[in-house]
Amino acid sequence: MSKKILVISTSLRANSNSDMLAEAFMSGAREAGHEVEKVSLKDKTIGFCKGCLACQKTGSCVIRDDTGEIVEKMLHADVLVFATPIYYYEMSGQMKTMLDRANPLYTADYAYRDVYLLAQRQTRTNML
Ligand SMILES: Cc1cc2nc3c(=O)[nH]c(=O)nc-3n(C[C@H](O)[C@H](O)[C@H](O)COP(=O)(O)O)c2cc1C
Repeated sequence: MSKKILVISTSLRANSNSDMLAEAFMSGAREAGHEVEKVSLKDKTIGFCKGCLACQKTGSCVIRDDTGEIVEKMLHADVLVFATPIYYYEMSGQMKTMLDRANPLYTADYAYRDVYLLAQRQTRTNML
């Protein structure tokens, strides 16, 4: 069955390695007949969560920036895929900020049941 896959690519770097992983994942998914959309966090404005928890009552965030549109796409996707560079043994800060801001989904009737993480760390070949 064809699924709606949303790929969120979080590296802000030109020629990003994790974005290449995302692109490879996307071609495989398309070949398998799935509907794929990618959102890059490059050029997006994503403020920090303020922790007010208003989203748990209203279903949306009080901060008006680019996050709302991304969260709306997440709500309707069957599969979520996050691509991130590893920063200090962890996901990138921008990915963590995005996840915190997706808190309106916590109480929502979201469609996704599968979530994938594509992570790229330093290798000999991508060292400066
Ligand atoms: C702030 C920062 C922290 C990093 N921390 C790690 C790390 O803990 N382990 C590692 O293997 N690589 C680390 N790296 C290297 C990146 O993971 C690596 O360059 C990765 O390929 C970058 O992904 P991108 O090309 O998708 O941006 C770090 C890079 C930066 C800028």
